[in-house]
Amino acid sequence: MTSRLDGPLKVTGQAKYGADHNFPGMAYGYLVLSTIAHGEIETMDVTAAKGAPGVLGVYTPFDPLELSKAQSPLFGETWVPLQDREVAYYGQPIGFVVAETFEQARDAAMLVEVGYRARPAVTSLEDGLATAEEAPGTEDLAVLAEGVESIEEALAASSVVVEQTYRTATQNHAAMEPHSAVAVWESDALTVYSGNQGSDLQAAELASALGVDGASVRALNPFVGGAFGGKARTSAPAFLAAAAARALGRPVKAALTREQVFTATAGRAATVQKIALGAAEDGTLIAVRHDSWCATAADRSFVEPTSHGTSREWYATQNLALSQKIVPLNVPPTTFMRAPGEAPGSFALESAIDELAVALGMDPIELRRRNSSIAPPGKDLQWSSKHLDECFQIGAQRFGWAQRSPRGREDGDWLVGMGVATAMFPALRFPATVEITLREDGTVVISTSGADPGTGLLTVLALVGAESLAVPVERITPRLGDSAFPSGGMSGGSTATASAGSAVMVAAVEVIDALLALASAPGGPLAGAELSYEDGRVLAEDGRSMSFGEVLRAVDRESVSATGSSAPGEELTKHSFSSFGAQFCEVRVHKWTRETRLSRMLGVFDCGRIINEKAARSQALGGMIWGVSAALHEALEFEGSGRPANGDLAGYLVPVNADIPEADVEFVRYPDTLHNAVGSKGLGEIGTVGVAAAVANAVYNATGLRVRHIPITIEDLL
Ligand code: MOS
Repeated sequence: MTSRLDGPLKVTGQAKYGADHNFPGMAYGYLVLSTIAHGEIETMDVTAAKGAPGVLGVYTPFDPLELSKAQSPLFGETWVPLQDREVAYYGQPIGFVVAETFEQARDAAMLVEVGYRARPAVTSLEDGLATAEEAPGTEDLAVLAEGVESIEEALAASSVVVEQTYRTATQNHAAMEPHSAVAVWESDALTVYSGNQGSDLQAAELASALGVDGASVRALNPFVGGAFGGKARTSAPAFLAAAAARALGRPVKAALTREQVFTATAGRAATVQKIALGAAEDGTLIAVRHDSWCATAADRSFVEPTSHGTSREWYATQNLALSQKIVPLNVPPTTFMRAPGEAPGSFALESAIDELAVALGMDPIELRRRNSSIAPPGKDLQWSSKHLDECFQIGAQRFGWAQRSPRGREDGDWLVGMGVATAMFPALRFPATVEITLREDGTVVISTSGADPGTGLLTVLALVGAESLAVPVERITPRLGDSAFPSGGMSGGSTATASAGSAVMVAAVEVIDALLALASAPGGPLAGAELSYEDGRVLAEDGRSMSFGEVLRAVDRESVSATGSSAPGEELTKHSFSSFGAQFCEVRVHKWTRETRLSRMLGVFDCGRIINEKAARSQALGGMIWGVSAALHEALEFEGSGRPANGDLAGYLVPVNADIPEADVEFVRYPDTLHNAVGSKGLGEIGTVGVAAAVANAVYNATGLRVRHIPITIEDLL
């Protein structure tokens, strides 16, 4: 149990987030957002704004900043504001006002008069279904048993068929730290302080948009106040602050207000998912069909891959058919949000599996066990490790699953029900490079450019480094969040521990080699000896030994450094990789008011090796709570005008402490060294997967009412 190393700085207010940085001569920017959902900007009268006190610059598509479309090394094209006069959604950034103070910038922004030629806006997924398009990058998939002509034929041949449509709501990113940036130019070099999920990615995107050399942009984000996918791409404030700072020759700070975060960033797409499951009497799945439609922004920049992200891998079945469509809408851009694909996808699939269990009269855990896959359907590569059955066994015992009746139970005025769901999220990793420096005072610095948006990566670096170098963790200073450090990939896709952690192990071997070479070189303190390394010390065959600090002092060096890199490779040709989990929920539905209260939940996860129990538990718990939020609270609603009706934290519901009475997390601990040297499989996203279905399944168990959309509200249970 290690408390996060950056914890004290965060809770005492000493951690400086992007917008906490201030510089002499700094100016403040405020974003102007569109007030229609679709159309063209015909005019922007900035006369009054320009004449307002303290105003330094007013930038619009008619008088833009020097910016162009950005290329991200990982995500392709990234949207950059003020490039044209098209308005694709309500609350789109269309202007930027910079003034001496924040208040002056905000006041002047209110004086900008915009004339639009409005066009009809479509903001509801249901309304847009008729215009659905093939989703780029996700081909329809059909795996059929020999002799079977179509998925319909396989379904028709099944004894029991469940065929239903499920819906999930638009969700918003609302990390504690709103998207913000401070940009400072010194001659031709830019430094940007802005929370994001990978500083080198942000530096590359900014350089591309600004038309400057990548090496001249430095992105710093040692502290990130939450990201969850919403800070994977560079945000509008960072592009605008960087370009305005260049235009004005002064540092510029730009921060979104909480309300602006709801439209000027990006969120999770609403989905409609049709699922058909065909099974034999004994529960064996014969056919799985999953057709999905997800909302996307007008620029089609993101697909929420519910079909391919979920049903492709979850259950063994001889016949599988998947399709994924997008529905371009006049809504804020969609993007990654914790478990993109699997979070809404698992609501549909795991609700349908529960419905199948009811139709078969079978325990839902038993049904899942019977259809557990040893490899993704249609693929030859078996899972490198899978302990899902054990997750269910442990969970069932700990949760008291045996006490569950198929019709729930009553407790006074409350109807009580239990539900389960499977959780899966692919185990991935990215190339990462880490530098380790051993110093003459016996301390160690470990640096890489990745980010710790609250995931605990900083502490993981120190723990893996301590283990790899066999030195106490207290002597290690981990460093993240600087694009000048070796490229550490990003904190996204549940990859950071596997990626950066594996690189730490390689770098440790490299730096020990370099240390031994210094010690044994002619003139070195152990010249000519055969050397080994143990517990932070260099050992000679003859029994002499020195700490690494002593070696460095003996050769008169302050430090010795080495980098190590690790990347996915040959293992991808040998196995499939995934984290697994079993989610248990108990709900109480009030007989008369019909309110649903979560009473207990438990997640048991197979995420490979757990490096830091405390942080891992918090990570899983946070995901589970978000799952409850999706099930019972969260939905961004749009008015007819396309304006979000509840685009702030007053109207957009999220759970508070009273909504989450008892939550429990357990891990089965099987290091997966077939996946990477550290043995971890990733747990950033899996915590949220399956929870919404487990809640809905518990609601069904309690009430006999099957709600096929989330969030579930009182009205659904009347
Ligand atoms: Mo995560 S949605 O990959 O940041």
